[in-house]
Amino acid sequence: MSNESEPEQAPSTAPQTSLRFEVKLYPNPILRRPAEPIEAFDDGLRKTVADMFERMAASRGVGLAAPQVGLRQRIMVINPSGEPGDELALVNPTITDKSGPITTFEEGCLSFPDIYAEVDRPDECTVTAFTPDGEAFEQSFSGFPSRVIQHEYDHLEGVLLVDRMSPADKQRHKAALNELVDRFKRAQANARPARK
Ligand code: CO
Repeated sequence: MSNESEPEQAPSTAPQTSLRFEVKLYPNPILRRPAEPIEAFDDGLRKTVADMFERMAASRGVGLAAPQVGLRQRIMVINPSGEPGDELALVNPTITDKSGPITTFEEGCLSFPDIYAEVDRPDECTVTAFTPDGEAFEQSFSGFPSRVIQHEYDHLEGVLLVDRMSPADKQRHKAALNELVDRFKRAQANARPARK
C-alpha cells in the first residue's frame, strides 16, 4: 500500500537498478494469482524479506506483498508509520478475526501508481502468522496498521484495489486504469521477439 500523505517519487527518479525487485503494475497477471504458503524458513526467505523492505522503502510504500514483486509467496512487509524500527514482516499470515466499525479511508497501491480510492474495511483485525525466523506470531491491529494489513492480505489472495473501489471511483479513474492496461500491453509487445 502506498502512503497517501506523501507524494510518490516519480518512477524515472527511483533508483530501480540497484534493487533486486521491481514493483509489478496492474494488470500484470501475477497480481491475480493467489500466493502459496512458505515451507522453508531459511536464508533465502530472509533475503527476500530484506529485499522487499528495501523495495518498499525506495517506493515510499507502507506495505508490500510478495506477488507485487512477482513472487507467488505468502509474505507481506509493512511499516505503517514509516519510522525506522517499525518494520513488520509476516509470513503465511491469516486474518483470524475482523471487528469494529466499518471505516472508509483513501488507499493507494504501489501497483496502481497515482490512483487513490476510498475503501471500506473493518477497523480491527487479528492476524496469526510466522516471523521470517519461523516464530509463531499473533497480534490484533486497529486503525491504519489494520488497514495496511488487510490491503496486503488482499494481494496474497489476488484481490486488488480496483476490486475494492466504488463504481464511482472506478469511473473517475477509468482513464488512468486504461492507461495502465495500455502500458502493460505495449511492454508485452516489446518483450516479444520480432517476427521475421
Ligand atoms: Co497494494
